[in-house]
Amino acid sequence: MIHPMSTKQKIIIDTDPGVDDAMAIFLALQSPELEVLGLTTVFGNVEAPLATANALRLLEVAGRPDIPVAHGAENPVAVPYKGAVPFIHGDDGQGNVHLPPAQGKPLDISAAQFIVEQVMRQPGEITLVPIGPLTNVALALRLEPRIAHHAKVVLMGGNALCPGNASPAAEANIYNDPEAADVVLGAGWDITMVGLDVTHKVCMTDADLAQIARMETAMARFTTAIVKFYRDFMFDRSGMGGIYVHDSTAVAYLLEPDAFEVQHWPVRVDTGYGLGRGKTWPDLGKADRPHLPPWQNRPNVRVCVGVKGERVVAMSLERMAAS
Ligand code: RIB
Ligand code: CA
Repeated sequence: MIHPMSTKQKIIIDTDPGVDDAMAIFLALQSPELEVLGLTTVFGNVEAPLATANALRLLEVAGRPDIPVAHGAENPVAVPYKGAVPFIHGDDGQGNVHLPPAQGKPLDISAAQFIVEQVMRQPGEITLVPIGPLTNVALALRLEPRIAHHAKVVLMGGNALCPGNASPAAEANIYNDPEAADVVLGAGWDITMVGLDVTHKVCMTDADLAQIARMETAMARFTTAIVKFYRDFMFDRSGMGGIYVHDSTAVAYLLEPDAFEVQHWPVRVDTGYGLGRGKTWPDLGKADRPHLPPWQNRPNVRVCVGVKGERVVAMSLERMAAS
C-alpha cells in the first residue's frame, strides 16, 4: 500500500469525533508508517462545529497542533442531518469529559477544498480515510472528479453481509448520507470498505481497556477518560464487556492489510426512503447470472469480509503503548 516514492503513506482522515474516531486518530498518529496530512471534519456522531472543535482538541492532546483541520459538511448532500448521538459518545462527543476549548483554529478552506488541493498537489500519494459519513468526499468529487484517479480510499462504513447498527439494515456512517456513499463507492478509485462485517469482529475487551489505563502516555490517559461512556453504552445495549473499535479498524487495514480477508464486488447503496435506506448492497457476482442493471458498469470495491480481530487489537495496544 505504500507509494514507492515515499517512505510514509500519506493520509487525510475525514472524521466526526466521536470516541472511536479519537482512538483511530491516535492510532494513526502513533504509527510511523503513516503521515497524517490533515483532519477534515463532518457532521455525524456530533454536529460539524463540535466535530471541528474536537478534532483540534485531539491534535492538541496528541501534541500535534501542527496538523491542519478543515471544517466540513454540516448536512448530508440530499436531506437534513438527523442529529447527534449523545447516548453513544456523550454530549461533547468525547464521553462527557468536557475538554477546555481548543487553542487552534480550522483552516479557512472547506474540507472538500482541502481534500482536492492536497490530492491534486500530490497525485498518487494520498489515501483518504473517511471514518464518518461520506459527504465531504462526495463534495470533493463534485469539485474535482479527477481525484478519483489520483487518490485511494479506505473507509469505515457499510455492511455487506451482516445487519446494520444504525438501523436493522444500515451502518451509521452510510445511513447518515446514503446518496454521498453511493457516489463515493461508484467513483472508480481504488477503494476499500471496512464495514461492520469486520469491525464487529474487532473487540477491545475490558481487560484490553484496563491495559490502556495502565499506560502513561497522554493519548492513553485521554483514551481511558473518554472510553468509559462509550463502553457503558455498548454494555447496556448488548451486554458486551468491551468496545468495537470501528474507526481504528480502518486505520489497521492500512497498517496490516494481511490481517483482512477481502472480496471484490460492485456495491450500491439503498438511497430509497424505505426500511432499507443506507444498506450497502454488493452484487456477489454469481456465475449463473450477469450483474443486474443497478450494479452494471459499477467498479469493484474491495470489501473486507474477514479479519483477525485479536491481531488488530494487539497491534493497536502495542502502538498505543509506544511513547
Ligand atoms: O458504525 C460505526 C461508525 O459510526 C463509526 O465511525 C462511529 O464513529 C460512528 O460514526
Ligand atoms: Ca466515526
